[in-house]
This record gives sequence, structure tokens and C-alpha cells, in this order.
Amino acid sequence: MVQRSKITTLTEFIIQRQSEYPHAKGALTRLLNDIATAAKIVNREINAAGLVDILGTAGRENVQGETQKKLDVFANETFITALKGGGECCAIASEENERVINFSNEFSSLGKYVVAMDPLDGSSNIESNVSIGTIFSIYRRVSEAGGGTQEDLLQAGLNLTAAGYVIYGSSTMLVFTTGKGVNGFTLDPSVGIFCLSHPDMRFPEEGKIYSINEGNYIYFPQGVKRYIKYCQENDPETFRPYTSRYIGSLVADFHRNLIRGGIFLYPGTTKQPQGKLRLLYECAPIAFIAEQAGGKASDGHKRIMEIEPETLHQRSPLFTGPRAMVDKLESFMKQCGNK
Ligand code: AHG
Ligand code: MN
Ligand code: MN
Repeated sequence: MVQRSKITTLTEFIIQRQSEYPHAKGALTRLLNDIATAAKIVNREINAAGLVDILGTAGRENVQGETQKKLDVFANETFITALKGGGECCAIASEENERVINFSNEFSSLGKYVVAMDPLDGSSNIESNVSIGTIFSIYRRVSEAGGGTQEDLLQAGLNLTAAGYVIYGSSTMLVFTTGKGVNGFTLDPSVGIFCLSHPDMRFPEEGKIYSINEGNYIYFPQGVKRYIKYCQENDPETFRPYTSRYIGSLVADFHRNLIRGGIFLYPGTTKQPQGKLRLLYECAPIAFIAEQAGGKASDGHKRIMEIEPETLHQRSPLFTGPRAMVDKLESFMKQCGNK
């Protein structure tokens, strides 16, 4: 009988780590499991996307004015249902909903946590079968009781209890942090269990990849233009010229750069001074993971985790990757001012 090496499931891992959280009574464990359950359901639909009527647009726009894809709507509804039913979360902020969804039913209004989420990230890539993802942030509520409120969600990244993403790629992975490092779990579809496959994930010290949509070059700040040229200079001692890799799904670009070492850049432009990515459910959770993996995440001048959100869907420039790479980008931004 071939002995399968001992696998650690997501539930076993959290329970093993539970001892590190004496105050926790299992609520965060149950909440993470609710997210994992929803991820498995979304994963099933994505894998069948080419075969069933789940592709294409849902025929309406979301609060961002972006055309919603059927899978955006399906993923959003799946995560909301799982979180509402789980009882650990009393409110949700979603990319797909203009306002906070608060759960005032008896069961969930007692939930200690709130969740901000991008239920499906990289939607524009669905039809081309490119990896997409889900991004989530978990905060402890600050309001006393009753269904959660907007103030529960408008918290800086420094207050995050946990953050993670699911990447629906060649394999489906759940990667998350609760503030004690980053761990990656790969879904074994034959039994529907997330198994620990990437313990203690960390950026390589130095990276050789830069990821940015260079189609927007003419709209970039001078500091970003200078940094792109720096990446393209010939200097073998510092592994330059770097390799350019950009797929257009934040989760997929970030995950590749975390594994192989690279910087992801989504700057503000003259067209969109605050950039495209949303602070609450894209930049802040990714920043928490990046910092916990020994990297850095900045808006070009300050730490993403320190930005106090004022509105649910506010945007922020995002530069994230190994510390040395983000430091270099920030030095160019400083030299060139805000031009
Ligand atoms: P979403 O599908 O949730 O709207 O996110 C798409 C985002 C992000 O995933 C990606 O990094 C970025 O859009 C790509 O934008 P460009 O196509 O402008 O490069
Ligand atoms: Mn997104
Ligand atoms: Mn999205």
C-alpha cells in the first residue's frame, strides 16, 4: 500500500494553529471554512464555464459601472449565501454591491466579523480561460450589536484579522494569512478538501519580474516611467533586464510574483489618478499578504496598510512585491515628485 505523505487539511491546520489564538473560540475557523466552502462551489462553476450557460455578461453593470459577467454575479451570490448562513459574519462589502450588505437576522447579527470581498477578480479573463480569483479581507466588527455597519468595514489594513485569495488556475488554491505568515492550500478536487501545499510562503529576496499594463505608459507618472526603463536596462549584476509578465488578473499576477519573485504595479494615471484597484477588497488584503510574506505594498509613497478608507469602493495605486523592488520604485517616485 503506497503511503500518501501525511496531508494537513485546512481545518486541521487552523485547529493546530488555534492554540496560538487563546482568545479564539473557533469563530474565525468556521468563517474561513465558510469561505473555503463557497470557493469550492465557485470553482466547480468556473471549471464547467465552457460547458454550461455561465459565460458572458449578466446584462447589467455593477456599482463601478463595469459590465457584470454571469460568473461575477454567481460568485457574489455564492459567497454572500455562505457567509450569511455561516453566522460568523454580520456584514459584507462586495465589489458587486454599492452598499454594505448587513445581516440583521438573529443568527448572523451576532457575528463578530465583517468581510470585504472581490468575489471574482480578473473577470475580463473568463472567456479566455485565464486564471481568475477571489480576494477577501476579514475584520473584527467595531459596532456593538445588530447587523454590521459601514463603519465596521471602513477600517485600515492595519486592523485586518485575516486576508486571503483563491486562485482558480491550473489548480485551485486558497492562500491566506491571519498575521502569522502566509500559507497556501491546494484543493484536491477528488475529495473536495484544501490541503496544505505551500507552508510559510515568502517572496524571494530579489525578483526578476515586473508586472504592469504598459499599454497605459503615456499616462503613467514620471517616476513609474523611470522605473520601467530601469527594469529594462542591461545590468546582469542586478538581474536586469527583468522579465515582463502581465496577465490582467491581480490574483494571478500577484501569486506568480509571490512564488517566483516580482513586483506588481498598478499606478495612478492622468486618466485615473487613484488607479483602478479598490483599496478595501483588492489593495489592502493583497498588501497584508505581501507584508506577511516578507514583502512590501505601497501606493508609491506610503504603506497601503495605513490608508484609512473613507468610502467602500475607493481606489488606490498599488505597488507590491519584494521589499527591495518596491523600495526602488518608491525612490524613483520620490525623485520625480507627483508629476
Ligand atoms: P475585477 O475583475 O475584479 O474588476 O479586477 C480586475 C482588475 C485586476 O484583477 C487586474 O489587475 C486589473 O483589473 C487589470 O486591469 P487592466 O486591464 O486595466 O490592466
Ligand atoms: Mn478585482
Ligand atoms: Mn471583481
